[in-house]
Amino acid sequence: MQNSAQIKSNEIDEKVENLLSKMTLSEKVGQMTQITLQAVSKTEGKVDQKYEVDLQKLQEAITKYHIGSILNVYNTALNLDEWHQLITQIQDIATKQTRIGIPIIYGIDAIHGANYTREATLFPQNIAMAATRNWELVKKSAEITAYEVRASGIPWNFNPVLGVGRNPLWSRIYETFGEDTYLVSTMGEAYVKGLEGENNQIGATDKVAGCVKHYLGYSFPLSGGDRTPAWIPERMLRDYFLPPFQKAIDAGVHTVMVNSSEINGIPVHSDRYLLTDVLRQELGFKGFVVSDWEDVKNLYNRDRVASSPKEAVLMAVMAGIDMSMVPYDFSFYNYLIELVKEGKIPQSRIDESVRRILRVKFALNLFDNPYPNLQMKDKVGSPEFAQVSLQAAREALTLLKNDNGLLPLNKNQKILVTGPNANLRSVLNGGWTYTWQGNEESLYPKTQKTILSGLQAKLGRANITYIEGTKFDEAVNIDQAVAAAKNVDVAIVVLGEETYTETPGNIHDLALPAAQLQLAAAIEKTGTPVVLVLVEGRPRIITPIVDDAKAILMAYLPGAAGGEAIADVLLGDYNPSGKLPITYPRHPNDLVPYDHKPIEVDNPNKLDPLFTFGSGLSYTTFKYSNLKFNRKQIRVGESINIKVTVKNTGNKTGKEVVELYLSDLYRTISPPVKQLKRFQGVTLQPNESKTVEFTLNQDDFAFHGRDNQRIVEPGEFKVAIGDLSAKFELLPSRK
Ligand code: BGC
Repeated sequence: MQNSAQIKSNEIDEKVENLLSKMTLSEKVGQMTQITLQAVSKTEGKVDQKYEVDLQKLQEAITKYHIGSILNVYNTALNLDEWHQLITQIQDIATKQTRIGIPIIYGIDAIHGANYTREATLFPQNIAMAATRNWELVKKSAEITAYEVRASGIPWNFNPVLGVGRNPLWSRIYETFGEDTYLVSTMGEAYVKGLEGENNQIGATDKVAGCVKHYLGYSFPLSGGDRTPAWIPERMLRDYFLPPFQKAIDAGVHTVMVNSSEINGIPVHSDRYLLTDVLRQELGFKGFVVSDWEDVKNLYNRDRVASSPKEAVLMAVMAGIDMSMVPYDFSFYNYLIELVKEGKIPQSRIDESVRRILRVKFALNLFDNPYPNLQMKDKVGSPEFAQVSLQAAREALTLLKNDNGLLPLNKNQKILVTGPNANLRSVLNGGWTYTWQGNEESLYPKTQKTILSGLQAKLGRANITYIEGTKFDEAVNIDQAVAAAKNVDVAIVVLGEETYTETPGNIHDLALPAAQLQLAAAIEKTGTPVVLVLVEGRPRIITPIVDDAKAILMAYLPGAAGGEAIADVLLGDYNPSGKLPITYPRHPNDLVPYDHKPIEVDNPNKLDPLFTFGSGLSYTTFKYSNLKFNRKQIRVGESINIKVTVKNTGNKTGKEVVELYLSDLYRTISPPVKQLKRFQGVTLQPNESKTVEFTLNQDDFAFHGRDNQRIVEPGEFKVAIGDLSAKFELLPSRK
């Protein structure tokens, strides 16, 4: 008996074969070509300009070059009506003015919500979502994102980012779910399920195709610079970077985008081993692979592994690229036709890619209805959706220090609010908000609260003094801020980063700019208690101002509801429960992740993070007890159950994220000192206890051995939860 998903899939196969048999070579190659909206636009897309498509260019792209896909916004987000008009225009041409009528698959970067649709809900960025340790919330945010992207008429989202963020300098750390492989895998899987649905029925009106990116190793550039080389040995690739992609592929994700850069000297767009042998044969990926921006060309222009633009196309397609984000011209299309005619690329290779692309278009139901669904409009940006974003922001906020219970603040206190990020909306959202860099403050709706207005909304204005103090890297009126600090009960100093993404976000120095450190230090010197609030996409070094700060709240990039959520936490209307998804370094040259090797432990000058991965305080206290296994010994192939009791020993209701860390004590490849293997949030009333149960299985014990094969080695393991730990033994399997 076949189930309905299989029947549907067989039906799709039949339709694809039927269509493919009618297509010319040019029509096929066109399907593999993706251009950007900029290539078919009239206006420059400036902030104050109405976007205008160039109809003639659009028609030419679709009818003459048969392009299969368009992406992006021109420059700034469109509103729903503009999207509807644009998508309708595009699909009218594709389905009515071409010989075979294949709809276009439009793709967009909806990185933290449908951030290129003006009315949409903006969520915290992924790094903050990871701090919630709440995969249900990640899934919910992805469901809403799918709804709002599809409601815009767009069926394809270039997210989630599944790079494991292991270099804190990198400008795209905030797009990741942090430095840990298990955390990234878990959140990534939840996001894919939210976008595509539990059964990947992406033809549903409220689902979209996901695109996991950037396969593989993009998130670990040696220099920290965006799009710079990674050097990652095979074992590390497999143990740390591959699992999130494997999980997402197992979850059925329909598309994959490739790492723009190179690993071990091989640009990934030219790497047949990774794109075909590993991705297709090992991971079993069935969808299609899209290049990143201009990256087929880059094999020649930038990386110099191809000696001509045409050879670059040959390399990329033979490596396994199915669709090229060209994105400004039709060179890929022209070269690819030549290469097939010259017999350098077999027709069968083209058919393979086109099949994959058409399958996704059929699965998305684009052939039956390629047009925006107008009925979906009303719920976009609804209060119901905004509530989820607010909840996510609250759960993300991570309390790193709270001397003498300074927080939550007493609501009658006199407060100074200062710092460059205190009264801006853009900085709460980061890059990929209304524009690529997210820095157009004027585009942010006035209804979005800043941290200052979030506090004012709760406390009124009378007791709050606001003085900017500094810009990001330039003093403005530090003296005035210092003078004001002397007349208040507490100073909230809001520091952090400007908005950025990709290469414009490269930095030379992980330290927070000097002006900001100066502002905080000067206020601390007044003796007025200081609360530091950090609004930043990566952990910028703040060491000189930490000891004299009484409280520190890590806000990451908490999204549109960040201002309100931060006020909630500062004032005790919400009890924080976020946990750091990344190590917070103390020293610029000590950027070692938490799951480092034993050899690091004995290095006296190193390994002194400011806050460890998993740090995060609450306004209540928790106590762990009764860590127990169902058995002390298991055999290879068996699983083990672990129970632990956690009690709220303070006097406020709170959520505790129970994290289970596993250490393989001895093995043939030096083991990480510990690795996160499970986590579960529990909400407890004062005095309430709950028992949490976990199961670990062989996947949790496996690693790649000396010959790079995946193995499980018998031996002793340690489980640590909270301040408790216990050991069990893994025995060889019975022969
Ligand atoms: C980024 C991708 C993004 C693409 C399309 C590239 O520069 O690396 O993450 O999906 O642009 O906007």
